Amino acid sequence: NYMKDDNVSQETKNLIASLPSDKDFMGYGLYNYKGCWYYPNTLQAVLDVQKHFKPRDTDIILASLPKGGTTWLKSLVFAVVHREKYRENPQTHPLLSQNPHDLVPFLEIELYANSQVPDLTKFPSPMIFSTHIHLQALREATTKASSPCKIVYVCRGIKDTFVSGWHYRNMLHRTKMDQATFELMFDAYCRGVLLYGPYWEHVLSYWKGSLEDKENVLFMKYEEIIKEPRIQVKRLAEFLNCPFTAEEEECGSVEEILKLCSLRNLSNLEVNKKGTTRIGLDSQIFFRKGEVGDWKNHLTPQMAKTVDEIIECRLRDMSISG
Ligand code: A3P
Repeated sequence: NYMKDDNVSQETKNLIASLPSDKDFMGYGLYNYKGCWYYPNTLQAVLDVQKHFKPRDTDIILASLPKGGTTWLKSLVFAVVHREKYRENPQTHPLLSQNPHDLVPFLEIELYANSQVPDLTKFPSPMIFSTHIHLQALREATTKASSPCKIVYVCRGIKDTFVSGWHYRNMLHRTKMDQATFELMFDAYCRGVLLYGPYWEHVLSYWKGSLEDKENVLFMKYEEIIKEPRIQVKRLAEFLNCPFTAEEEECGSVEEILKLCSLRNLSNLEVNKKGTTRIGLDSQIFFRKGEVGDWKNHLTPQMAKTVDEIIECRLRDMSISG
């Protein structure tokens, strides 16, 4: 129901009336607030996060675009941060019995959705939250904290993110949408008109943030985690101030985490094969192929060229692969 406007206050309705608007590929209205596109209910939730969310300095916020590697990042960070707790009894690890999205709640999609204002003091510390909000918008909330909390961003190449989003939609609606819809969705992506888009503004906000504040903002790439998982997980642990000790490395702690969080392992767990997550989505739709370059099976060479040129122009100073 996030595309609708049934949770929007009168104040937000007035704001929305003043914003640039467009339509997504299905015809739902999107509104541009401070450079980012939102559906009405999403904007309300984002405004509520900005107003009410006050992270503790021990909290960790995971950020991503939808289909950018959110589920993997959630599992990896959870496993890294809580590794000591489950060292003795690995069979009791929460990732074996709960979907990663139920262990790491979304701020605007779950906690602050539907005009809720949760009491976060009841959550244990450190608490891991996640969001799809871009960094400038998130900063409106995080600067209220007494000291900065850690933010980890995962970025994935635009073509695979797009294709993953296409499959996700098909799984969500349990039908395969037609070619015309695929092309409409592609055009919207290229114009940047999609929820939380444009893609490049999102990526740039965290890229710049990570350069300006290395201590508190980590920029990771999905493709790099695939390519050099050990190095990237160690980098993650160091950033989170819980580096792997020499002893842990020797006894294979990094490998264990990688195995636990692997697509193959998570997607074969009973909890992720059946049932729904707390926000009511089929648990299995977060797991598919997890490959780099799957876009080649779906985009025409012309489509790939179009999107490459856009990215080349928008992200000239960064080396975002794919
Ligand atoms: P594909 O559709 O390309 O397979 P998000 O988690 O942001 O919703 O992104 C979903 C994408 O991440 C999907 O990509 C999914 O298969 C992949 N993914 C999910 N869990 C993963 C894991 N544990 N390791 C690697 N990739 C994973």
